[in-house]
Amino acid sequence: MSRGVDPRAEIERLRTEIRHHDYLYYVLAQPEISDQEYDRLFRRLQDIEEAHPELVTPYSPTQRVAGQPLEGFQTVRHPFPLVSLQNTYSGEEVRDFHRRVVEGLEGRQPEYTCELKFDGVAVLLHYERGLFVLGATRGDGENGDDITQNLRTIRSLPLRIGGRGDDSVPGGRLFVRGEVIMEKEPFHAYNAEREAAGERPFANPRNSVAGSLKLLDPALVTTRPLRIFCYAYVPADGQPPDATQSGNLQTLTRLGFPTSPHWSKCRSLNEVLDYWRHWEKRRDDLPFEVDGVVVKVDCLQDHAVLGMTARAPRWAIAFKFSARQARTRLTKIDLQIGRTGALTPVAHLEPVELGGVTIRRATLHNEEEVARLDVREGDTVLLERGGDVIPKVVAVVSELRPKNARPFNMPAACPVCGTQLIKEEGEAVSRCPNEECPEQAKRQIEHFACRIAMDIEGLGAETVELLYEKGLLRDIGDVFSLKKSQIENLERFAEKSAQNLLEGIKKAKTRPLERLIFGLGIRFVGEGTARTLALRFESLAELSHATIDELQAVPEVGPRIARSIAEWFHSKRNRRIIEKLHAGGVQTKTERQRPKGEKFKGLTFVLTGALQQHTREQAEEMIIAQGGRVSSSVSKKTSFVLVGTNPGSKYDKAVELGIPILSEAEFLRRLGT
Ligand code: IVH
Repeated sequence: MSRGVDPRAEIERLRTEIRHHDYLYYVLAQPEISDQEYDRLFRRLQDIEEAHPELVTPYSPTQRVAGQPLEGFQTVRHPFPLVSLQNTYSGEEVRDFHRRVVEGLEGRQPEYTCELKFDGVAVLLHYERGLFVLGATRGDGENGDDITQNLRTIRSLPLRIGGRGDDSVPGGRLFVRGEVIMEKEPFHAYNAEREAAGERPFANPRNSVAGSLKLLDPALVTTRPLRIFCYAYVPADGQPPDATQSGNLQTLTRLGFPTSPHWSKCRSLNEVLDYWRHWEKRRDDLPFEVDGVVVKVDCLQDHAVLGMTARAPRWAIAFKFSARQARTRLTKIDLQIGRTGALTPVAHLEPVELGGVTIRRATLHNEEEVARLDVREGDTVLLERGGDVIPKVVAVVSELRPKNARPFNMPAACPVCGTQLIKEEGEAVSRCPNEECPEQAKRQIEHFACRIAMDIEGLGAETVELLYEKGLLRDIGDVFSLKKSQIENLERFAEKSAQNLLEGIKKAKTRPLERLIFGLGIRFVGEGTARTLALRFESLAELSHATIDELQAVPEVGPRIARSIAEWFHSKRNRRIIEKLHAGGVQTKTERQRPKGEKFKGLTFVLTGALQQHTREQAEEMIIAQGGRVSSSVSKKTSFVLVGTNPGSKYDKAVELGIPILSEAEFLRRLGT
């Protein structure tokens, strides 16, 4: 910086300029400067901020990814209930809606604003004096999770409004509702990346957004291609009397919020229906998923007149699109074997385009489903796809069935290892009971190595296949005895990638116990149960010796899960796996020593509101460590409700049912801390 320039003024100028270019790039997709020029501005701002740390504010464009990974999300109570909409599926139902509106307005014909219904995750943004101070998920409509840190990483979301030379920024509190989405193309690219890393792909962009917003580390969230569309503008001090929804959309746009340009003001029911027809036909041209349109009475005063039903406003309705359909020929029914031995029939299809995605395969779920559809090889089938990437076979076009088509029969034996299949009572799924079935073993190793389990870099599906075929891996226990000399000469393995894999394996040795338990692939033990088990048992050894009764005493573990865990540890093969894990130097104990006791034995807790001294997870951990249970809803069986600041409806319910309420201080006193 040249001498004499006031760093404060220079910082302000750079931030305004960067915000302007962020807006052009991320919101309008119309950049005016090159990436290099932008980077230069950004670096200059970073340099000055580094020299003057006292001038850094959380609203600087350099601070989008700031803050440490969280241990859990705080619950926030919404300033008003975030209601959802009544769904309708036919023009007739929309006509009924219109009739009710006209009746409510005593015969007056309303104007409507029609918008796209974005298929993402709903959030509420809070602004104070133009600054983004809080963002929360919708949750149950009354309470959501505070995901401010994660939302800050979305570059099109303004951290500060009014940076565009616009001085009419609402001074007080402002709430903005929006939908976080992932566009289709970046979603597919991201899914492909996951698959390459041996992770399970997300079924649709919405799930992928939900998964991203739940990440505790904002640095990870930045790597996810998230966007947001804002559609509701609610100043805390009430609406101006002549305000309209279309006016609000324009205001949001003027203030620099990302809005979708595809809304339309409709002056009659017919115009509404036309809008819907238009987008029903063209939805695949949009770069993001929409699942319908939202029809809103335009005049906000009429909203007050029309009011709400118990669950939804009377002034708006969602008019959903029907699922996309396509016809194609089913060439073959194949069986896929999962890591627990479950066999899933899979339909192989002649490639067909459905909603912008080429479909080649579809799951048929299980034998019963195949029988119900009476689907056969050679059949022409009708496919349907909602928001999901995975399509469903919904019907067979019977007129087009070839004469020689024969009904599908589940084989009696596993197509891979030849073992007689079994079907447990009350279950729809056939299973290969052979623990050593190669297909199962491979799936188990892939699961063990996946990012949410042991996170072993370099051990994706292809590598597992190769190492299995070469006889180097037979089960998850073998992973830790792989040697460089064994793998570096294999095709596909240069010295470098052998080294990388070994480093990935070395790192995985110290994963937390809950990841290890999850990675074992015990039936019914998902991430959540694994975490609870790791809280109750301090080591794999302790877990392996637990009796069915001890297991059932763990919150959320019922007889089915308890039996499955006990069976897993009883198996000779699995006991050998555990020995191999120990021999391979894998950490099988919890790192932390937790005080354990029985102070809360037999008691059930419900938590609501934000605690001051602990995160919610920590509090849950303390309860479980003392033999208590944590439940998500208040009932007569609840022993205590632990209440923090801004409690939600669970607090009211506790009062209503007369359940004892504990403050954080009282809770800690009872714990003796
Ligand atoms: S308006 C009271 N507008 O659809 C007004 N919602 O079923 C409530 N959504 O939870 C919502 N696009 O997540 C509105 N243009 C849009 C929307 C939209 C998507 C979602 C939103 C809401 C759900 C309603």
